Amino acid sequence: MATLENILERAAAEISAADSLVALDETRVRYLGKKGEITQLLKQLGKMSKVERPKAGAQINDAKTELTRILEQRRTKIESNVYREQLKSEVIDVSLPGRRSSLGSFHPITKVLDRIEDFFTGVGYMVVEGPEIEDDYHNFEALNIPAHHPARAMHDTFYFSDELLLRTHTSPVQVRVMEVQEPPIRIICPGRVFRVDQPDPSHLPMFHQVEGLVVDTDVTFADLKGTIVEFLRVFFEREDLKVRFRPSYFPFTEPSAEVDVHCVSCNSSGCRVCSNTGWLEVMGAGMVHPKVLEYAGIDSEKHSGMAFGMGPDRLAMLRYSVSDLRDYLDNDLRFLEQFK
Ligand code: DAH
Repeated sequence: MATLENILERAAAEISAADSLVALDETRVRYLGKKGEITQLLKQLGKMSKVERPKAGAQINDAKTELTRILEQRRTKIESNVYREQLKSEVIDVSLPGRRSSLGSFHPITKVLDRIEDFFTGVGYMVVEGPEIEDDYHNFEALNIPAHHPARAMHDTFYFSDELLLRTHTSPVQVRVMEVQEPPIRIICPGRVFRVDQPDPSHLPMFHQVEGLVVDTDVTFADLKGTIVEFLRVFFEREDLKVRFRPSYFPFTEPSAEVDVHCVSCNSSGCRVCSNTGWLEVMGAGMVHPKVLEYAGIDSEKHSGMAFGMGPDRLAMLRYSVSDLRDYLDNDLRFLEQFK
């Protein structure tokens, strides 16, 4: 029994010294495990006399119960310590400024394209896309620009071969739609276009256009004018915006016009943006040339069409006061972040 007391004393000391659940379990195994000291004592009971055995058995069992109790106590203590440490290490200082997640933003040209599409889909147009790699026929021929026509010189074209090129405008999408769709047709065609040009503040070799086309039985110049004036007033959010149509020439429209708006930068008093003219050119337009309808298989006796083509890069410049087109392509976050 002296041994038992000695064991208990040592065990108690070891238990209170155990500072982790692992250490505590090792202690438990040393005393109560299969080969533990207490278990060894129980095994020796068989060697005792019948008289001694019951008392010794009871004492060992008491010791075992006691050990189990203080082990349990210590375990609870260690667990609550671990929990407290964890809470301490995970404490959040609510007075610190939060970490902002940085949200991206839409490119100014994307925003302008969205505005254009919103307006036209709202009045019943469909948005149609066409290929950026075009053939000579759709980019020129079917738009009434035959080979050697001087208008070809205005389009400094990137050619892949005699037949294939990077489209110089979005007008070929008109042709592609007319070839497969019966009138009435009401479409806009946004997309990238390409021309051989040295990049400078107002020129890029790759820019954007949005083409518009309406073909029906009695489309008139009044429809064209009304549509464009209304669009420009909505786009620039100026109900009284002055718009003027200047006679012009495009091979695929007759009559043709260029459309100017009162300079939105200086309110037409004259500034650098409008080269002191008070007016800004924003698009080309006209009534679809009968030859263009016929090329696409539409009867020009029965149908008439109106068309227009505008430059979203230019419109975005005006709307957001961008002074250099090259900023659109630099991917400089300091520029892009301004359009959040
Ligand atoms: N395709 C012309 C260009 O790139 C723009 C244009 C002018 C389109 C008049 C049209 C139009 O549909 O009617 O310069």
